[in-house]
Amino acid sequence: MASTVVNPGLEGIVVGETVLSNVEGELGRLTYRGYDIHDLAERANYEEVVHLLLFGRLPTHDELAALNARLAARRALPNGLLAMMHATPRDAWPMDVLRTGVSAIAHFVPHRPDGSHETSIETAIDLIAKVPTIVAAWDRIRRRLEPIAPDPKLSTAANFLYMRTGEPQIPEAEKAFDTYLILLADHSYNASTFSARVTASTGADIYAAITAAVSTLAGDLHGGAPSKVMTMLEEIGLPEKAEPYVHDLLARHEKIMGMGHREYKTRDPRAAQLEKMAKNLTEKSHTKWYLIARALEDASQKVLHEEKPGKKIYANVEFYTAPTLSSLGIPSDEFTCAFACGRISGWCAHVLEQFGHNRLIRPQATYIGPEVHPYEAIGTRRVQAATNGNGAATPSE
Ligand code: COA
Repeated sequence: MASTVVNPGLEGIVVGETVLSNVEGELGRLTYRGYDIHDLAERANYEEVVHLLLFGRLPTHDELAALNARLAARRALPNGLLAMMHATPRDAWPMDVLRTGVSAIAHFVPHRPDGSHETSIETAIDLIAKVPTIVAAWDRIRRRLEPIAPDPKLSTAANFLYMRTGEPQIPEAEKAFDTYLILLADHSYNASTFSARVTASTGADIYAAITAAVSTLAGDLHGGAPSKVMTMLEEIGLPEKAEPYVHDLLARHEKIMGMGHREYKTRDPRAAQLEKMAKNLTEKSHTKWYLIARALEDASQKVLHEEKPGKKIYANVEFYTAPTLSSLGIPSDEFTCAFACGRISGWCAHVLEQFGHNRLIRPQATYIGPEVHPYEAIGTRRVQAATNGNGAATPSE
């Protein structure tokens, strides 16, 4: 029987269970398997968080060393994939290259995943290791530079920064990117994770599920927001210009990127951590982006309070991501790829969780098209205005 309640955007609809992360939107709290994100950001490293998500608990020293060794052994890209990337037009969008790259890894594995938990874990580690390498390699290939091989002695964060530049990193930069990866690692049933779970629920393998997740992350309402935040910061140019800029934006009925969230009705807890990093890094690199971002957040709060009272629109994770990543030398069209470098661990953990308790995800839609009517033979059809599929007329050719 057709459902009569329509929930576009699935807002407020619970479609599954997870033990991986909990977003408490009213409290502004995010936890991974019960650990507060602030504790993890300040005290753990990214690989510990990967272990927590994949294996259910924080690792001992030996377990962490074993995971680091498995990641290090899998970071290098297959030659076939590198050849594909070299053949890609240099102006290809980094997220397109990442999406194709993730999908293509599957061509180069000797055996398809057999669905067992052990093989799925192995594939997850492979993807967690290789996603940052694809992003760093494309950054170099598109600049007509040779990709730099990963260094097995370095962490995920340090390797990513090293593979882009070939330079040793200052500890602050490594720590900042490591913390960024932790903050972005998981976020319950966000759109890209949900997309991965839908794909996994059909029995498709982990490569297919992660390819779907990367595709879903790309949009401006999800992982595409921070590059648009950077564009705003560049257009504003000076902190004192932030308030008139926000007025203009809202007058054009446009959104302030990096503001607002479906779940958080207070400031995103990750924004506080990112703000600290952005302030610290921009001071060191003598750039103005933090000061403009700070002024933009203040102006947004003031103007939104006046123009959209009661809407509860606050800075989300993407807002201070822009000045943070920019200070680390990452160009704005790679920000969404940097997001994927962290979220890959959460996506994989969710796919494993879905495999463990699978039920095909298949919602319903309320049909609002024409009533049942007879089929017209081709010679008897009348010429009529074409519609856009929703009943509205579209210009005919
Ligand atoms: N700037 C201005 N107004 C905003 C806004 C923003 N960033 N975010 C939401 N609003 C307003 C909408 O205009 C709408 O107002 P209205 O009722 O007067 O039309 C209201 O708040 C509800 O917005 P809606 O987009 O329907 O809510 P949502 O729950 O779907 O929004 C987002 C969640 C993330 C899609 C939305 O806040 C947004 O587009 N933010 C900017 C993009 C971004 O930063 N994305 C990254 C998310 S982590």
